[in-house]
Amino acid sequence: MAEKFFLTTPIYYVNGQPHLGHAYTTVAADIIARLNRLMGKKVFFLTGTDEHGLKIQQTAEKLGISPKELADKNANRFKELWKILNISYDRFIRTTETAHVEAVKYILQKCYEKGDIYKGHYEGWYCVGCEEFKTEKELLEGNVCPIHKKPCEYIKEETYYFRLSRYTDKLLEFYEKNPQFVKPEYRFNEVKEFVKQGLKDISITRPRNRVKWGIVAPFDENQTVYVWFDALTNYLSGVGYPSPEYREWWPADLHLVGKDILRFHAVYWPAFLMSAGEEPPQQIFAHGWWLVEGHKISKSLGNVIDPFVAVKKIGVDPFRYILFRETPFGEDGNLTRERVLNRVNGELVNEIGNLYSRVVSMAYRYTEGRVEKTDALPFAGEYTQLTGEVLGNYLKLVEEFKFHKALEETLRFAEFLNRYIDLTKPWELNKEGKKEILKGVLYLLTDGLRILTHLLFPFIPTSMERALKVVGLEGLQNFTGLKPLSLKTPHRVGKKENLFRRITEKDLTFIVKVEGKPGEEKMEQKPEGTEFIEFAEFQKVVLKVGEILQVEEIPKSKKLYKLTVDLGEEKPRTIVAGIKPYYTPEELRGKKVIVVANLKPKKLMGIESQGMVLAANDGENFSLLTVEKSVKNGTRVS
Ligand code: ME8
Ligand code: MG
Repeated sequence: MAEKFFLTTPIYYVNGQPHLGHAYTTVAADIIARLNRLMGKKVFFLTGTDEHGLKIQQTAEKLGISPKELADKNANRFKELWKILNISYDRFIRTTETAHVEAVKYILQKCYEKGDIYKGHYEGWYCVGCEEFKTEKELLEGNVCPIHKKPCEYIKEETYYFRLSRYTDKLLEFYEKNPQFVKPEYRFNEVKEFVKQGLKDISITRPRNRVKWGIVAPFDENQTVYVWFDALTNYLSGVGYPSPEYREWWPADLHLVGKDILRFHAVYWPAFLMSAGEEPPQQIFAHGWWLVEGHKISKSLGNVIDPFVAVKKIGVDPFRYILFRETPFGEDGNLTRERVLNRVNGELVNEIGNLYSRVVSMAYRYTEGRVEKTDALPFAGEYTQLTGEVLGNYLKLVEEFKFHKALEETLRFAEFLNRYIDLTKPWELNKEGKKEILKGVLYLLTDGLRILTHLLFPFIPTSMERALKVVGLEGLQNFTGLKPLSLKTPHRVGKKENLFRRITEKDLTFIVKVEGKPGEEKMEQKPEGTEFIEFAEFQKVVLKVGEILQVEEIPKSKKLYKLTVDLGEEKPRTIVAGIKPYYTPEELRGKKVIVVANLKPKKLMGIESQGMVLAANDGENFSLLTVEKSVKNGTRVS
């Protein structure tokens, strides 16, 4: 029987329209769902909307409509967007559904019976934007929420507490036993640090006379359930909890969330579950934050990205593609016009779309659209090897959530096919004595498109549905059975079609450029040295000892020297290095330095630099790396 895979997105607040951030998480979930289906798993993909709480109540009041009307309106907007973005969810849950309300009462009652809930008083600052109580330490200027930059409300009232303090050790033990629980690893470390400081009990109900729009607590009809407790329970009620069918899917395999709500998912949620006698989820992945042209996205800056507009302007798949092509999933990303333009035109249009057109056109021109397998298959060995490599790497990379790298591999494959055309020159093979080779070339290329369509499908499914027709394929196959040179013949290609449209600056005005420098809203830096790499990865970097033979100034450059460095090779290398402010030419000549020898050559100030010298810079002192004893030039550093 097929292995199950249950994944979720956060359920989004319905106080506003869906924006770029919501689209990002949901597309990520869609990519993962599609990948898992292609790997033969039985997938359940849950998304939905978070509809209770003060935030919704207050927004509705302002608009002069009922909270339910507001929720209906915006829940529909989310559904519309998911349709446009081709999101293959299995269930859209709304927390106002009766079954969900019942599930929340049921699980809360269980925690109550376990003795984990008690009555008390609460007094403190509450941020409605976050739907969260804040400690004084967290607040700016006395009572301002650091996230929403708005004053918090001071609240003093009766409430019920959940005994979170009981779960400090249990959680730490659970983290210990489940080292994969939170990804990326550096975020898991933050979670552990937080729990290690000891957990305080948390307030989980609100007086009903203040927060009306919520689920009534099963143990006190004058209290409504805290919206986060309500919301988190969707992951269970979404698969039928408490009726036994939820056991088919629970525990969830993956909760996908933004880094803003990791604590709720990695600390509070497993504790609630433990209290109710349910298993915690298998894994939580917390991704990073999107900035636009270097600035934080905010209504007041006016740079909020409306995904409806973005899709209208550049198309659904280019939109999906740019979100995952460059930014490592997990880290913060910066959406810029330039990047979008380059990726869409340079890669989707030129590299990929063109390839499909070229191959299909040739198949019509030379063999009336028919493709046959022959024994004459130029470069079949190279092709088979590359395909194996790419498929292997791709599957490993997506497993590790390294989507940008998986797309890099995919592009490498497309580049190979483009180069293959340039190399075999099919237009010179359309003559007596060469026709068998021509057939072989067309077979290999069509087979290549079949593989390429599979690799791209999870990311850009709408275009790849069309690509299947263009190539003449009936459907997709399981990833595990995907082998090079196995396209069944005789085969007919379909109708040629342009898969992607070239875009211009004009299409990109929805990416608003805010004046001024991004200040405090800088991107979060991934802490270094908190994630391990394999030895093999380290070995990819070839470090060698080199001797500086010559040092030349570069006209107009304040920072750069042109160095001639002997790496024990036939010819010394030219390396451009930004070390002029720190060393005189005399100090450098004859010095032994450490060079990255296999760095892709790069032009700097018109000079091709064939490597990089290593240095350490702490802001005050700058020092080249060298060897302590004299070793031969070209010695590998390991
Ligand atoms: O927090 N970049 O809902 P929410 C990337 N209802 N992702 C972003 C983003 C950005 N700039 N802005 C938002 C809630 N997101 C609760 C969740 S779950 C049981 C309850 C994404 O509408 C990201 O996934 O504020 C973030 O976690 C989520 O939207 C928050 O959506
Ligand atoms: Mg939010």
